[in-house]
Amino acid sequence: MPSTQSERDLRSYGRRRGRRLSTRQAALLERDLPRLAISLSQPSQVELDRVFAPPVAEVWLEIGFGGAEHLIWQARANPHVGLIGCEPFADGVVKALSAIEAANLSNVRIHADDARPLLRWLSPASIARTFILFPDPWPKKRHHKRRLVSQASLAELARIMRPGGELRIATDVADYAQAILLAVEQQQSFRPSLAGPGDWGARGSDWPPTRYEQKALLEGRRCSFFRFQRI
Ligand SMILES: C[S@@+](CC[C@H](N)C(=O)[O-])C[C@H]1O[C@@H](n2cnc3c(N)ncnc32)[C@H](O)[C@@H]1O
Repeated sequence: MPSTQSERDLRSYGRRRGRRLSTRQAALLERDLPRLAISLSQPSQVELDRVFAPPVAEVWLEIGFGGAEHLIWQARANPHVGLIGCEPFADGVVKALSAIEAANLSNVRIHADDARPLLRWLSPASIARTFILFPDPWPKKRHHKRRLVSQASLAELARIMRPGGELRIATDVADYAQAILLAVEQQQSFRPSLAGPGDWGARGSDWPPTRYEQKALLEGRRCSFFRFQRI
């Protein structure tokens, strides 16, 4: 029987490891991850003050950053913001660490694991913006319970996001898009944001494409780009 809440989280991601890491990649993980990781053993306010020193104006969260191209774009475009990227897939984490080093970024921190324990750890109203871009689709009906965007995760996001904060979610799966809209409506803490292009089919200029989006478009799938505001 699962004994802790983390053990009860159904796996929502595919793999933790891909190809064998090169010596350089393994060294990067060993050298930079401890410095850039968030420690959940400290109270969250103490830890965020420690990791984002000098202080940042606000903190944003990206859940499932994949190859980190969106995370890094946002960090470069918004140097006054602290970004926490969550990703359990080691190859993605290595890509993020390489890009952080190459661009000499000081405003990105990495949670190289499932985002859900981090969500539970974060203080109420501590996050100004959250991105969940193309969460794993889990297309088979019996796997829908593994989908990351659910009533439970939205309730946790409602707790940690500050009023007026923005939640951005993208998907290329039509029935997931419908389920997301329904879950947001039922959850009642977010409303469609007026700040976006006014159309779920367009991203807007402050929202760069991800690798997964490019693949979806090449394969002819339509994407939805949701923006919700924390009420
Ligand atoms: C389909 S990929 C999309 C990656 C990227 N956002 C993009 O658009 O290219 C979904 C990503 O979410 C990550 N993921 C799934 N469940 C997660 C969780 N519970 N916490 C953090 N990341 C998760 C997966 O490892 C995977 O990299």
